[in-house]
Amino acid sequence: TMSVLRRRRRGLRDRITAGNDAAVDRQHRLGKRTARERLEQLLDKGSFVEIDMYRRSASRSNLPKRPYTDGVVAGSGTIDGRRVFVYAQDFTIFGGSLGEAHASKIHKVMDLALSTGSPMIGLNDSGGARIQEGVMALHGYGGIFRRQVEASGVIPQLSVIMGPCAGGAAYSPALADFTFMVRETAKMYLTGPDVVEAVSGEHVTHEELGGADVHGSRSGVATLVYDDEETCIEDVRYLVSLLPSNNLDRAPRERECGATGDERPALADLVPVEPTQPYDMRDVVAEIVDDGDFFELHEQWARNVICALARIDGEVVGVVGNQPVEFAGVLDRMASQKAARFVRFCDAFNVPLVTLVDVPGFLPGTEQEHAGIIRHGAQLLYAYCEATVPRIQVIVRKAYGGAYIVMDSRSIGTDLSLAWPTNEIAVMGAEGAVNVLHRRELAEAVDADSRRAKLVAEYAEEYMHPHYAAERGLVDDVIDPAQTRSAVATGLAMLRDKRKRMAPRKHGNIPL
Ligand code: COA
Repeated sequence: TMSVLRRRRRGLRDRITAGNDAAVDRQHRLGKRTARERLEQLLDKGSFVEIDMYRRSASRSNLPKRPYTDGVVAGSGTIDGRRVFVYAQDFTIFGGSLGEAHASKIHKVMDLALSTGSPMIGLNDSGGARIQEGVMALHGYGGIFRRQVEASGVIPQLSVIMGPCAGGAAYSPALADFTFMVRETAKMYLTGPDVVEAVSGEHVTHEELGGADVHGSRSGVATLVYDDEETCIEDVRYLVSLLPSNNLDRAPRERECGATGDERPALADLVPVEPTQPYDMRDVVAEIVDDGDFFELHEQWARNVICALARIDGEVVGVVGNQPVEFAGVLDRMASQKAARFVRFCDAFNVPLVTLVDVPGFLPGTEQEHAGIIRHGAQLLYAYCEATVPRIQVIVRKAYGGAYIVMDSRSIGTDLSLAWPTNEIAVMGAEGAVNVLHRRELAEAVDADSRRAKLVAEYAEEYMHPHYAAERGLVDDVIDPAQTRSAVATGLAMLRDKRKRMAPRKHGNIPL
């Protein structure tokens, strides 16, 4: 009867809120929360619909107990009223390890996320493949990875690491669009410190090998890094508010806020005219976007390029910007990769791109060349060339050579190119150009220095100003810096209904 069922459910939920008390206490002592506590904060109050609460392992022989949920809480709920699918691994049951039932619960919610066109969020806290279930556990992981790849570019995928995530398990966050990590508690590596030591003799701690800071600043595996779970989950909610639910949808718009008429006189003072003088591009971004508010990705990794989501006149945009305070804003391997992946995300999910250019070129050197900067730079080039979303380029100061082409120039398909009057667009800087063009003459000249200075000045006047590009249609307009926000907002409105289709093909072959 009903009451029996209700009693059974209530009893069950109490018992399976988490594993035993000692395991829950330990979780709390480590600054971690239980799977259900995490979901409580992540989802709108009362919105969680659990799926497969009664699921448990079928393998009676291998496991000492067979707790319900099998160590993962899965289902669906809403964030700001918008549907998402979730799973949260429960470290208090078998160390959150993944067995057959556990995996098939994750598969089920992933299938529903894809078929309903809703974001998928995984909260990971797990000892990895459940050893007692052997190859069935590995099979379970493969099913997650395959689903992630099939859902890639169709629904946003967010992976949140709040505990260990080792071995093959680490490929799930690697395949997601965004990977969040919490300092101290989150660890990600393919082989742990014990194995590293056994194989190479190298002694390394968990944190040094695969902690949040390592992945946030060195490997680029983590997109976002937090001090604690609460601020992390807060930001998961914030990020979801900036994303469309799927590739057929647009990101949620907010009401227009008059950006098309908004003058920002501070912009001219933020950017020094002298081309080698550093300044923080984030200050420029803050002036251009609504409320000075932007969500930066990979803040500590490849800092010479900035990637951020923000709103302009209520519409979500992806901002890519060179960062002159970091290595003078040159493009190197990591920066190219970081920006390429971001551009592709934005393109897959209908987020218009705003590219702020101030780039001296690609980073020279054997380290970069031998490690394949040509391949990595080509990834960024490829990503822009195939992007069909509205694209606006703003040349803030300088744009030289190959880096000019790659940073969403007219030739690779930008829809609107705006330049500040002070800027320099050229194959190379005036000094370098004069040295190449007048090498012999300067070598023979008695007054080489004054002759060089004269030639540099002539070259700069002739070629290195935005009107040279504007006269040839490569720049659509030369604007007063104060009008950057209004011009970008107007451009976005103009391009809102842009439609462009590439020729049908199975898929391109991006130089990975
Ligand atoms: N399979 C089965 N059970 C596992 C497990 C796994 N992969 N990982 C952890 N557990 C169990 C532990 O046996 C322990 O069970 P108990 O409470 O009944 O004793 C419980 O989960 C908690 O694990 P514990 O080792 O006490 O936690 P910890 O915080 O000290 O260490 C890990 C966490 C993840 C570092 C450690 O458990 C570990 O190294 N696990 C194996 C990781 C691995 O190599 N997985 C396979 C990779 S594909």
